[in-house]
Amino acid sequence: MMEESDYIFDIGPGAGIQGGHIIAKGTFNEIINDENSLTGKYLSGKKKIIIESQQKLKETEGYIRLAGVTHNNLKNVDIDFPLGKFICVTGVSGSGKSTLINDVLYHALAQKKNPFHREKPGEFKDISGDDLIKRVFMIDQSPIGRTPRSNPVTYTGAFTHIREIFANSKDARLRGYGAGRFSFNVKGGRCETCEGEGQIKIEMQFLPDVYITCETCNGARYTKETLEIEFDGKNISEILNMSVDEAHNFFSFHEGLSNKLGTLKEVGLSYIKLGQAATTLSGGEAQRVKLASELSKKGAGSSLYLLDEPTTGLHFADLEKLVRVLKRLVEKGNTVVVIEHNLDVIKNADYIIDLGPEGGDGGGGIVASGTPYQIANTKNSYTGLYLKKEL
Ligand SMILES: Nc1ncnc2c1ncn2[C@@H]1O[C@H](COP(=O)(O)OP(=O)(O)OP(=O)(O)O)[C@@H](O)[C@H]1O
Ligand SMILES: [Mg+2]
Ligand SMILES: [Zn+2]
Repeated sequence: MMEESDYIFDIGPGAGIQGGHIIAKGTFNEIINDENSLTGKYLSGKKKIIIESQQKLKETEGYIRLAGVTHNNLKNVDIDFPLGKFICVTGVSGSGKSTLINDVLYHALAQKKNPFHREKPGEFKDISGDDLIKRVFMIDQSPIGRTPRSNPVTYTGAFTHIREIFANSKDARLRGYGAGRFSFNVKGGRCETCEGEGQIKIEMQFLPDVYITCETCNGARYTKETLEIEFDGKNISEILNMSVDEAHNFFSFHEGLSNKLGTLKEVGLSYIKLGQAATTLSGGEAQRVKLASELSKKGAGSSLYLLDEPTTGLHFADLEKLVRVLKRLVEKGNTVVVIEHNLDVIKNADYIIDLGPEGGDGGGGIVASGTPYQIANTKNSYTGLYLKKEL
C-alpha cells in the first residue's frame, strides 16, 4: 500500500508522549532514503523482522486433533495443532480461518475447560488431545473494560501491589489507612462525587456518552485526605499519571510490581499511563495489555492462546515486539495459534496451517501444513508463493 501511494507522512518517532512529530514526508523513494524515518528503514530492508527463538524448540509434546470439521465452508477437514509451538493459520480472505479457530477450536476447547462456557462450537466430529492443555484463551482487540474504572494496572494486577505499598507507608499506618483506602472502586478513600472515576459521564440523547472532568477532585479520583499520603514524594493520583516507564524505575525495589510493569514495557507499552482509562486504549493496545498480563503470570504453562489477526494496525516496529512476545509465551511452555496475513509474522512461525485454496465455496480445505520452508515449496499455495519471495 505504501509503495503504491503518491505521498507518505511518517509520524513518530515513538508512540504516545514519545510521538506526535512529523518525522518524514514525501514519496516512497524519499521515505526509504530518509535516515530519520523508522518506517523507511523497514521499507528499504535496512531493518528486518527476523526473530530468533531464545531457546531451541523442543519436540512437540503432542497434538490437539480436530476431526471432521464441516462448519461454514470447511470441507470435512482434519487438523493437527502441534503443542508448544508458534502456529500461524493462513489463507486468502474467506478461506475459513476464523471459522476453524474462533467458531470451532475455541468453543470446543472452552466448553471442555470451563463448565460455564455457554457458546456452542460449530460442526465437527471429534476432538482429542485437549487433556494436554490446562487453559484456552482468546486474546482479541476488545476493550479490557468498558468503564474508566479499569486500566492497565488494574487489569494486570499491578495496582494491588501499589495500594499495598501506600498502605505500608508510615503516614498511612499512623492514620490507620489500609490498602482499600487507595482503591477508586470502593468507598473510603475515593472521591464520592465521581465515585473514583475522576470523570463524570453525561448521557447524550442520540449521541455517544460524553465524559467531563469531576469538579470536586479535578480528576484526581481521591479525597484530599487520601492525597495527603505520599510515597517517595508522590501521591496515589500522581502514580496513576505516571507512564509505565517512569513507574518501572520508581518501583524498581519491588520485585512483583516491577515484573508486571516490565512485561507492559516488553509488549511496547512503556509510554502508556498507569491509570489510562480502558475506554481510551486502542484495540491493539488493549490486546497487548492482555498479552502482558498473561506473560507476567507465574508458571503459567500449558495454555493455548488464540489470536485473530493481531497485527491489524501495527507498524513494523510494533510487529517485531508482538512476535517477540508471542515467542516468549511459547518458550514458557504454551501454544500460540495466530490467524495472520502478515508475512513478517508468518515467516517466524514454527508451523503453518494454510487454508483455501480460494475464499468461500472454493476454500475450506487444507492446502498445506508444515514449516515456513515447506509451505514456500508447496505449488498451489498462495501463501507459499509470497512466502518464497520473503524467505
Ligand atoms: N455465519 C455464517 N454463515 C454462513 N457463512 C459464513 C458464516 N460465517 C462465515 N461464513 C462464510 O464462510 C467462509 C469462511 O469465512 P471465515 O470468516 O472463516 O474466513 P476467514 O478465512 O477468516 O477470512 P478473513 O481473512 O477475511 O477473515 C466465507 O465464505 C464466509 O462468507
Ligand atoms: Mg477471519
Ligand atoms: Zn471526583
